[in-house]
Amino acid sequence: MAKITYIEHNGTEHVVDVADGLTVMEGARDNNVPGIEADCGGACACSTCHVYVHPDWFAKLPAIDPMEEDMLEFAFQPDPERSRLTCQLKVSAELDGLVVQMPERQI
Ligand code: FES
Repeated sequence: MAKITYIEHNGTEHVVDVADGLTVMEGARDNNVPGIEADCGGACACSTCHVYVHPDWFAKLPAIDPMEEDMLEFAFQPDPERSRLTCQLKVSAELDGLVVQMPERQI
């Protein structure tokens, strides 16, 4: 279980408990957090689950694999210093306290 803070582009915060084994995208989807569309359902094929990870967290996350890296190029205003696709981030206790911010829009 991890407590994850999702911040909408307008600053609205959603603090959600997400079960281990789900992805950060699924945590948003299952709790009706707006701003993460996840059109492909988590197959790393759409980039509409893009977020900016808080700087304190970015380096702590698992490395970006080549498929995610390729797909991030299609995201809206990706930032190599803080962009991730939430469907590629598996939740565990290690992510407790994670803070992510949604972009202004998803492509
Ligand atoms: Fe489509 Fe993440 S949900 S890339």
